[in-house]
Amino acid sequence: MEVLGIKTELIRIGDDLVEALQKGMDNVGLALQDGDILVVSESAVATWKKRVVELESIEPGRLAKSLALRYSKDPREMELILQESDEIVGGIPGVVLTMMDGFLYPNGGIDHSNAPLGHVVLLPSNPIELAAEIHMCISGGKRIGVLIGDSRTHPLRLGCVGVALASFGINSVEDVRGQKDLYGRELKITRKAVADNLVSAAQIIMGEGDEGIPAAIIRGAPVSINDSSSEIPRMPPAECMYFGALKNISHQYVGGYDDLLDEARRARENAYVPYSNFRVGAALLGKSGKIYAATNIENASSGADICAERAAIAKAVSSGERNFKAIAVVGDTREPIPPCGICRQNLIEFDNEIQVIMANLSGDVLMATVGELLPNPFTAHYMETR
Ligand code: THU
Repeated sequence: MEVLGIKTELIRIGDDLVEALQKGMDNVGLALQDGDILVVSESAVATWKKRVVELESIEPGRLAKSLALRYSKDPREMELILQESDEIVGGIPGVVLTMMDGFLYPNGGIDHSNAPLGHVVLLPSNPIELAAEIHMCISGGKRIGVLIGDSRTHPLRLGCVGVALASFGINSVEDVRGQKDLYGRELKITRKAVADNLVSAAQIIMGEGDEGIPAAIIRGAPVSINDSSSEIPRMPPAECMYFGALKNISHQYVGGYDDLLDEARRARENAYVPYSNFRVGAALLGKSGKIYAATNIENASSGADICAERAAIAKAVSSGERNFKAIAVVGDTREPIPPCGICRQNLIEFDNEIQVIMANLSGDVLMATVGELLPNPFTAHYMETR
């Protein structure tokens, strides 16, 4: 197997990448052959597709500013991260770990390297289509594969390895379960990340810095070429050992439940709290789209108190709704108010994926699923399997 770098001129915003690659190959008398795999760096693809943003042009909002403070980041970059990602899973000073479309990325995939001064490069917006587009423009009738390559670190290991954001013409992951190991034992969990391994090989030549080699051809790889796009398969978070073991139970709120929070705030006004004067509001969002808002109801016999969350559940179930998406809880607390243990137990009875949006009156918000707030819960399962 051979890896041949393609040296190009500096690709500027909007420059035709395919033309630049063709020119780079022509300069050294290189031509694509049947079976070749072309690996192109995502930053070159993004620059071609004008996914470059000048930081000066970004006006950070309130949430971006507070997260920037918490994670020691530029608030304008944090604003872009919020725009790009579905969730911020956590972070350390300087880097946040984000989730987009079921994959994890550092900083929402936003990159300072290989961007003009004062600019950042965003991820290409539809890499699957772009891999197909590159294939169509450059293959010239040859049977080739195209990979868009990015780099990642593994937990607790220093150094980046290659990953494929998109693949055309190559089965990105090969399932080798059922094959035998050296001692004849059946392989139980092994899937070969063929596309990622190829990107890693190409990155030995491509580098990450000022090499001016945004692409490489892999020739003679023992991989068969087909003529379709291949999804990069996702692993459900619950099955991922890193995610499952390390996940943070309090995720940053990135929006989407503002109305539900408003309903909880409004319900809080009606609290019946003559003994504690501690008002709590809750709003439970059913999968039907209906919202059931409620408040805490106290009693001279304090054990008979009902929390706002359970009052909301009672209201919803009494109205015929049993499937829930989210619950917002608001109190006049210094930090966002978490539901008590009994309410967690009552919520998990219905679904461990219910999103719990915890807030105070100052606008601080955290969220976590009920399953994260109540790990290893007692459920009907234990009664059924005794
Ligand atoms: N309370 C709630 O309504 N929800 C919670 O998550 C925590 C506690 C109420 C119950 C009682 O009226 C008051 O707060 C003090 O325990």
